[in-house]
Amino acid sequence: MTHKILVTGGAGFIGSFLVDNLVEKGHEVTIFDSLEPQVHLGKTPDYLNKDAKFVKGDMADYEKLKGLVSDSDVVFNLAARVGVGQSMYQVKEYVEANELGTANLLHAMANEEHSVKKMIIASSMSIYGEGSYKCESCGREFHNVRRTNEQLEKKQWNIACPDCRKELTPVGTKETKPLSNSSIYAITKKNQEEMTLNIGEAYGIPSVALRFFNVYGPRQSLSNPYTGVAAIFMSRIKNNKPPLIFEDGEQSRDFVSVHDIVQGCVLSMEKKAANGQVFNVGAGHKITLNELSATLIDIFGSDVKPEFPGEFRKGDIRHCFSDISKIKSKLDYSPKITLKEGMEELVNWSRDQEAKDMVDKAYRELKNKRLI
Ligand code: UD1
Repeated sequence: MTHKILVTGGAGFIGSFLVDNLVEKGHEVTIFDSLEPQVHLGKTPDYLNKDAKFVKGDMADYEKLKGLVSDSDVVFNLAARVGVGQSMYQVKEYVEANELGTANLLHAMANEEHSVKKMIIASSMSIYGEGSYKCESCGREFHNVRRTNEQLEKKQWNIACPDCRKELTPVGTKETKPLSNSSIYAITKKNQEEMTLNIGEAYGIPSVALRFFNVYGPRQSLSNPYTGVAAIFMSRIKNNKPPLIFEDGEQSRDFVSVHDIVQGCVLSMEKKAANGQVFNVGAGHKITLNELSATLIDIFGSDVKPEFPGEFRKGDIRHCFSDISKIKSKLDYSPKITLKEGMEELVNWSRDQEAKDMVDKAYRELKNKRLI
């Protein structure tokens, strides 16, 4: 069965791959996207799918949104500002774009005539704060630890067991972990998730929240210094400059290929078992920043060496990687792209891409605001 599908943020990195996949499956897809200048540098991306309808517009534009909602039976809400660090000083812009943008969409769901049968919101692992940990020594698990600024200023990057003071070991984070937001960005994602599930339930619109882990792949802006770290490192390496690694580089994330994220999105649309649920979408294992930078440098064939300014980004977590047992068992999700394959794809794509290195400027900006 084919659907009329609206993808907000459909010109972006994740959205555009989702659109390609949906078009290929025969769905009628409409992209709604503002072509945010920080991401698109004033250009319409050449990868925009020609078989999808493109509507340029902002999530703040209720009139446009309501027409699109009335004409859809599935809505993917991917439009958002994504910089964790940047959200700490562009507070108003982030809350407006993410929360009020989603509020506008939900207002249309509640007030306009439509036949939307599924609504999917892109949420984020950042709402967990620190991931889950275990103490190998006393055997206890911890789901609510936090690092203090005081400890970070002393460069004590790791987290100690509150009982025996031994260093804790990160374990996979489940959807049931209590949330602990440490940035404005994370707060907006948590609110987007809750607002969507709330309106979905109230109006009987099956809704799903997907907590994406650290997504990487082609099309992630190489000139946006506030984007994800894989694209930032790629841009630095291409410009023959060292990746700048915060802390000691042993912090880790769950890097997941954009193609596996698309798989999670499509399964959530297709399967009833997804309705009303939240799911982690990740690769299910941890990669340190040192491993990430070494892999990219190696595949690119560069001889730059990463630099360690010994600093930290306020609000950053040390470790978080996904436990994906829920999405595996309920939706038959199974990540297909290994880190090596995914990074090779990123590197090969980047070779003939323009990459304006703006990292030094962004770094100075965060420093001026005392966020690093
Ligand atoms: C990222 C995304 C966020 C998304 C979340 C989960 C961005 C900007 N953030 O947040 O939207 O919801 O994943 O998918 O895309 N680092 C360096 N050097 C740099 C940049 C970063 O060492 O030049 C380090 C950071 O200190 C951190 C790690 O890399 O330890 C990851 O940072 P980042 O890519 O910004 O990701 P998240 O904050 O996890």
